[in-house]
Amino acid sequence: MIRLGVNIDHVATLRQARRTVYPRLTDAAALCEQAGAHGITVHLREDRRHIQDADVYALRKTIATRMNLELANTPEIIAVALEVKPDEVCMVPERREELTTEGGLDVAAQRDALAPVVAQMRDAGISVSMFINPDLRQVEACAAIGAPYIELHTGTYADTADAEQARELERLIAAARRARELGLRVNAGHGLNLDNVKAVLAIPGLDTLNIGHSIICHAVFAGLGQAVRDMLDALQLKTENGKR
Ligand code: PXP
Repeated sequence: MIRLGVNIDHVATLRQARRTVYPRLTDAAALCEQAGAHGITVHLREDRRHIQDADVYALRKTIATRMNLELANTPEIIAVALEVKPDEVCMVPERREELTTEGGLDVAAQRDALAPVVAQMRDAGISVSMFINPDLRQVEACAAIGAPYIELHTGTYADTADAEQARELERLIAAARRARELGLRVNAGHGLNLDNVKAVLAIPGLDTLNIGHSIICHAVFAGLGQAVRDMLDALQLKTENGKR
């Protein structure tokens, strides 16, 4: 069975826009879980642009499913992970000026730096996944450093169309096949939405799809009408069409 991990970073983006205490991340995580999400993902970025350290500690206490913490390989963030002990971490590359995680981790080039982190997490009882582009060399490097999971970056698939998108899906399928042959478990995510997600189910042996931005965007439209009705009720106002 494929599982859905919901990334709630952009609930924090809304909160940080005003530095308010709402929307509360723990409430958002609980709503996702009540709706059936199999896990909750957050990315504690070095620049703390959305998720804050306090969120990670609070979520650890309330998440009833699985907590997946995305992080870059920096000593400060690794120390937080080892203290919080999420169920899983996903190692990602990070550049301060990027809008979102732009490419996969170059595990092949960073084997010596990443292998000790994999061992450290394993010893702490935390599962580790490597966020990589669908590139066989990267898959093999992940197996070589003993990572139990990879997360295939679906961003290029999501950002392309037609023949180019079909070719990228083939690359994702080939990378997943190689990973399974090497005994790795396979997650995928980035840029997935209601229009492009179904085709991704062709990737063999998928464990979890991690989806964030499109779900939070969809929630605005699924919930905006109710939010206006609630405010009208609070103000005891009649609506524009005269109804209450
Ligand atoms: N997986 C990883 C490793 C990510 O960095 C992100 C974005 O934080 C996602 C999945 C989710 O991507 P999106 O927000 O585009 O659904």
